[in-house]
Amino acid sequence: MAEAMKGLHRSHRCAELGMQDVGTQVTLMGWVQKQRNKGGIIFVDLRDRSGIIQIIFEESDCGAEHFAKAEKLRSEFVIAVVGQVEKRAGAVNENLATGGIEIRATQVRILSEAETPPFPIEADSRTREELRLQYRYLDLRRPDLQRNLILRSSIAANIRRFMTQEGFLEIETPILGKSTPEGARDYLVPSRVHPGSFYGLPQSPQLFKQLLMCSGFDRYFQIAKCFRDEDLRADRQPEFTQLDMELSFVDVDDVIDVNERLLQFVCKEAIGLEVQLPIPRMTWKEAMERFGSDKPDTRFGMELVNVSETVRGCGFGVFTSALEAGGSVRGINAKGQTGMPRKKIDALVEFAKGYGAKGLAYLAVQEDGSYKSSFAKFMTPEQLENLVKAMDGGPGDLLLFAADQNNIVYSVLGALRLELGEQMGLIDHDRFDFLWVTEFPLLEWSEEENRFVAVHHPFTMMMEEDLAYLDSDPGRVRAKAYDIVLNGVELGGGSVRIYQNEIQEKMFEILGFTKEEAHNRFGFLLDAFKYGVPPHAGLAYGLDRLVMLLVKADSIREVMAFPKVKDASCLLTGAPDAVDHVQLQELHLLTADCPQES
Ligand code: AMO
Ligand code: AMP
Repeated sequence: MAEAMKGLHRSHRCAELGMQDVGTQVTLMGWVQKQRNKGGIIFVDLRDRSGIIQIIFEESDCGAEHFAKAEKLRSEFVIAVVGQVEKRAGAVNENLATGGIEIRATQVRILSEAETPPFPIEADSRTREELRLQYRYLDLRRPDLQRNLILRSSIAANIRRFMTQEGFLEIETPILGKSTPEGARDYLVPSRVHPGSFYGLPQSPQLFKQLLMCSGFDRYFQIAKCFRDEDLRADRQPEFTQLDMELSFVDVDDVIDVNERLLQFVCKEAIGLEVQLPIPRMTWKEAMERFGSDKPDTRFGMELVNVSETVRGCGFGVFTSALEAGGSVRGINAKGQTGMPRKKIDALVEFAKGYGAKGLAYLAVQEDGSYKSSFAKFMTPEQLENLVKAMDGGPGDLLLFAADQNNIVYSVLGALRLELGEQMGLIDHDRFDFLWVTEFPLLEWSEEENRFVAVHHPFTMMMEEDLAYLDSDPGRVRAKAYDIVLNGVELGGGSVRIYQNEIQEKMFEILGFTKEEAHNRFGFLLDAFKYGVPPHAGLAYGLDRLVMLLVKADSIREVMAFPKVKDASCLLTGAPDAVDHVQLQELHLLTADCPQES
């Protein structure tokens, strides 16, 4: 085996070959996709990361010894083949990029043999994901994952190209940092040298990139690993990658401008997509009112309608009591869905309850103009008619209403809109709708913590015109924060930063930190601001999410080489895992189930 590669040099990748290479002598290396022995002639599909090509073995070309080796080939053997490119003798295979050619082999060398894999190496695998992740190195041989990771690599390369051209410097920031939990939970790393002390893994390079601005690098970017100990979803992993950036001497429009051009460049290079600039902008307030979401999917309509004024004073207690409690009544119009069976409507009610609704009121306008409804009996015909009109309803439509505090109404109808949009086939999956959402609230009240928490993060600047409310009505203050949304997914977010110590200290105070706490956690930033700090702003994308959307994958796991599953474990390596007692001792750690050896 030591001589496996002796005298062999790969000349091409399999699918790099085409008609123009007919007559060329080539040396290919890769995996046997399949072998078919037709007696005197053996066909082998050879696969590498570029694709598949057909190899033909006949004893008259390759001699008895090589023919015998070809007979032994099984799927996933790794081989080297020497041969000549020929126009296909048989029918052209339209499914293969190399379908018009084949290689007439003169030599084959088996580089390694393979056991039968636990699942077939093919596109659109139906294999359950747990098994795929357990054997991820095999799963990654499948063409869809190969394509995703190859595209991911090219997206990263193009990002670097663009950012460098625009004068950004790529600077690395530490992974072993200081725990500054604000947002998600931190991952902690115990220190051996400092008993009882811990590093925190970065949730993002936020503080370091602000310090880099203080140091004068003025345009920074990084493709950075970030760590957040939070509940996982299809678009969330405990460790993920950001394209992170920060700019000095800028305001919102400058950040948006460079990022629009970045997105345009990367999308064009990656998938040939033409992003029309400028990307539309919508304030957070408008996004919530129209779509019930701060990351609206604008590929379809079915917008929320506020019918509070229309139903005020009507006889339906659910509506009137919500209004009396300071809430609202809003609805969506599922056009043409009047025939939805009762069972399905009940399922929607349950779905809505999952988002905090107490119920979901409905009114189906029958084809003959009559109503089927959970609340029509509480209203006069005139009130009903006004309500239908307000909803732009007509025969065939199913109107669904939520009545509650605004945040619940938004969350319920926002989710319902997406669910129905999908069910009703309203979403054009070939569209890429980018959207900036701006003017986010600076703070939101946390019932759990009984204090205000930052919507983006504590370093975000407020809109100048709202500064006056900082003391009197903090919940009303809007931030100079912006998110970039693609097809209803939050792709990235950023903000203009506070760079004045008085305002930063004020912000910490509003967030409920004592002066000491603020200085313990963030003192280094406040100190840095004392020595000359440029106004600065930035943004970070979830790179995994960007790739996921561009390749139209359902989950970011499909664009990460070695992702973790819902409980944050790695099915391939078995991480996280127990460690040796000695290792724990060195780190001055005891675990609850640790044997208490002395
Ligand atoms: P934010 O917390 O909004 O901002 O994160 C930026 C982007 O990172 C992606 N993202 C994730 N992707 C996968 N898995 C996760 N668990 C995960 N969490 C976040 C999202 C998100 O939009 N420092 C600020 C940016 C700034 O202000 O410059 C920050 O981290 O796509
Ligand atoms: P109830 O009076 O609880 O029987 O509810 C009457 C109808 O109103 C049912 O269809 C409920 O699903 C619906 N409903 C109850 N609470 C709400 C709410 N907060 N918003 C909208 N509809 C509701």
